[in-house]
Amino acid sequence: PLLRLSGGSVSGASALQQRTAVLAPRVVPTEPHEGQKPGTSGLRKKTKVFQRPNYLENFVQSIFDSLPEGQLNGATLVVSGDGRYHNAAAIQTICQMAAANGVARVWVGVGGLLSTPAVSAVIREREGGVAVGGIVLTASHNPGGPDEDFGIKYNVQNGGPALEAFTDAVHKRTNTLSEYRISDQLPEVDLSIAARHVFTEVTGEGAAAAKRTFEVEVIEPTEDYVALLRRCFDMDAIRTLLRREDMSVVFDGMHGVAGPYAKAVLCGELGLPSSCLHHCEPSETFNGGHPDPNLVYAHELVATMGVTAAGGAAPSASSAPVFGAAADGDADRNMILGRGFFVTPSDSLALIAAHAHLIPWFANAGGLKAVARSMPTSGAVDRVAAAQGLPFFETPTGWKFFGNLMDSRLLGGATLDPLLCGEESFGTGSSHVREKDGLWAVLAWLTILAEHNRQTPIGALVGVGDIVRQHWAHFGRNYYARYDYEGVDANGAARVLERLRGVSAMFTLAGHGPDRPQPLGTSGCALATADEFEYHDPVDKSVSKRQGVRLLFADGSRIIFRLSGTGSVGATIRIYLERYMPATAPAEQLALETADALAPLINLALELSQVHELTGRDAPTVIT
Ligand code: G6P
Ligand code: ZN
Repeated sequence: PLLRLSGGSVSGASALQQRTAVLAPRVVPTEPHEGQKPGTSGLRKKTKVFQRPNYLENFVQSIFDSLPEGQLNGATLVVSGDGRYHNAAAIQTICQMAAANGVARVWVGVGGLLSTPAVSAVIREREGGVAVGGIVLTASHNPGGPDEDFGIKYNVQNGGPALEAFTDAVHKRTNTLSEYRISDQLPEVDLSIAARHVFTEVTGEGAAAAKRTFEVEVIEPTEDYVALLRRCFDMDAIRTLLRREDMSVVFDGMHGVAGPYAKAVLCGELGLPSSCLHHCEPSETFNGGHPDPNLVYAHELVATMGVTAAGGAAPSASSAPVFGAAADGDADRNMILGRGFFVTPSDSLALIAAHAHLIPWFANAGGLKAVARSMPTSGAVDRVAAAQGLPFFETPTGWKFFGNLMDSRLLGGATLDPLLCGEESFGTGSSHVREKDGLWAVLAWLTILAEHNRQTPIGALVGVGDIVRQHWAHFGRNYYARYDYEGVDANGAARVLERLRGVSAMFTLAGHGPDRPQPLGTSGCALATADEFEYHDPVDKSVSKRQGVRLLFADGSRIIFRLSGTGSVGATIRIYLERYMPATAPAEQLALETADALAPLINLALELSQVHELTGRDAPTVIT
């Protein structure tokens, strides 16, 4: 097994193993590998690419070389991953390289496992936040295995992913690297059990008293994270809900690293039976699956919850559990389901915003300071922010942009922490860490359910669908869908985007704009803005260009086109579709099937982009 769970939290010092070892670095000549350019979330490639001689080593050395001079000397570094194939081998190599580059101590989760949010928590919280940063080995929701994906990303001292300036520097360094340093006589460390492995340099006569040591501390992966969640949520309120006879929960770990966390939180903390946990044993290949919590890839959970692949209620809905959730391979994404009901990630964010006062982490800090969403995420949360008078930020795709806001002092010196943020790509979280956080979202939803059911009689439980429908009745509904064309030819994808830039240029040339919308054929839609999203970071003033072509319509509908930054082969085109229905609309207009509500926009998107003609595809690979 990848992991021996010790059941619940662990206290006391772990076993100490002291040995001598050759720590002196060996300098290994190397040559640059092409294409080591990190994407939205680090460097992701096929595992076989990572297994090429010096491939991982070059990238890790380039990270180390790009850090501020001397920062690694005597430092503590977190190194762990989501348990996918090659994780354990890569960790051993990185430990040897850390030793050679001056690091004094590496923290590795038992089994080499730490979820992405847990890495963030360990960097920020463990021993008061002494770690200098972390190397996270994951390709997130991409499949794993010898023929699938591997990935590596660097998180900085605030616990969040490094910003573009740093990843650009790393990329530049990979192009000129001529050697790396490794203490390759450091013995392999047993990662299967929590322990401190302290290695003392064997050489170094003379000043023997000052002999160098290097430590690998294998830590309990859930310890710091669970302690943090206890501070975030009212666990008693959630326990009360979960004790109800008419309450039932299913959590799908998708064979990723979420499993041990779900076990520690849902069973250990909240007392749910382990029968609630599905696919919660981490597997190097995610059991051959695609560990992405959406309607397509989490089909087993979706079926269990009585939801159709299109997100509607299936005939089996009435006997489905009350609450279902899933997380991705590294446990930062989440999907929330009710009995026969799918909550879009954009709605999930809006609902959590509307209930934020119930989350002690926010309430104890005097309430939320702001909310943020990525540009393609629906505008549902905007309406909650407006109603609550909260500052609102729209950022490019990528969680790192939220991290910048969380650590900032804007608004005349006031902090934006606590900040709530989310993305349409099944990411939700807050400033409790600097990553999105799958289990955090689950607890936020259980909090919402607990509140709505404080007084409800047993047998009359108010479910997820009821709560979301109440929300729509108050704020209106943002119908939303995303079409993905995965693994298309990169040239074809580029031509789709070029074409759309042309549409946008023509629109502007013809003098159209919000005051002079352009009616589009017989679609009944009038285009009010056609541009390419560009983000001016209010904190570091950096500018991110070409973050997606936006078509904004006079009635508030939107179509957005962008290329994914997280794929590993070819290109992925994403088309985001959104239509707003105000709360004042007739009730049946708030209860349409998403596909019906969006049909005119979908046709328009296909026509304007010529995506099928230019890519040779006749349908999206995934609709979420
Ligand atoms: C990762 C990032 C997210 C991002 C998502 C989609 O999960 O952490 O912040 O939203 O990828 O990125 P993509 O470029 O594939 O649309
Ligand atoms: Zn992920």
